Amino acid sequence: MGRTRTALALTGAVLVAGLGATALLGRFSYAPMPDLADLANPGRSPLTTAFDVLGRRISEAEAQTLRQTEEGRQTLSPASGAVAIDAALVARGREAFYRETFGNEVFLTDVMGMLDGAITPFEVVRAVAALKGEATTNLQVPLAHDITIGDRTYKKGERVPTGLDVPKGGAFIIGIKSFYDQGHLRMGITCALCHAAVDAGSGKVVEGAPNTDLNAGLLMALAKNSSAYFMHASVPEADAKGSDGKGGDGKGAVCPMRRRWRRRPRCRSQAGRPAASIPLQTG
Ligand code: HEC
Repeated sequence: MGRTRTALALTGAVLVAGLGATALLGRFSYAPMPDLADLANPGRSPLTTAFDVLGRRISEAEAQTLRQTEEGRQTLSPASGAVAIDAALVARGREAFYRETFGNEVFLTDVMGMLDGAITPFEVVRAVAALKGEATTNLQVPLAHDITIGDRTYKKGERVPTGLDVPKGGAFIIGIKSFYDQGHLRMGITCALCHAAVDAGSGKVVEGAPNTDLNAGLLMALAKNSSAYFMHASVPEADAKGSDGKGGDGKGAVCPMRRRWRRRPRCRSQAGRPAASIPLQTG
């Protein structure tokens, strides 16, 4: 009996250690993709193209004619640049539409600090949970702390209209992909963030409809290091300040994940003063 207990305790300890190690070393990601039954417009684009040949659409009828001749069969071959537009390809495209971020989570999280500003993952999860399965076309998220953007001060707890959509019965925001990476959380965006919307009446997803109330500017301004986006937004650098009130002069901008960045290699200018610094992320 004593031995069995020891063996059980040991197995338990190994399991707990294993789970802990998985949590620390594990990586996984998730983005919601509605079932066809949860779409307001499931049959929105019936397949009318059978092949795409370098941008030229070929219907099934035309494809059948082409298949009759050797030359036609050549036209429909991959060597000629033909791609069969079939259900499998559409399914792959749909998956990409909802789940592909092209790596933007690194910029949005590690550089711009989307999760380290006044909107935190905790507040977002709480806001979604508070819906209790109801849909929203404009998730209201309470701010985690006071923040001044330009001449406006937002107070801690103030609910900001994000324009983010959660479908009925959904626990996740359409178009946002969450990444868990060895204890570090990141968020990225997919096409669905801007090109899908929730229908307020039914709570279903309207695939391909623009999310017209997405508050992208405010969401970015609330990030820890929104100045990182200025060069994409044609904001004159001299006018720009980070959301922490610093930056713009190139001196005080705060990098959100400072502890995760390795010592910065400095490029020395002729005068021996740092001319530029390139932050490197640790592995
Ligand atoms: C941050 C929001 C956002 C994301 C994410 C986004 N788009 Fe867009 N997209 C827009 C906006 C806004 C426009 C309209 C731009 C304009 O008209 O000047 C647009 C336009 C388009 C158009 C042209 C539509 C037309 O009728 O002319 C296509 C196609 C498109 N996007 C595809 C995509 C794809 C594919 C992805 C994902 C890889 C994507 N978009 C991600 C915001 C976004």
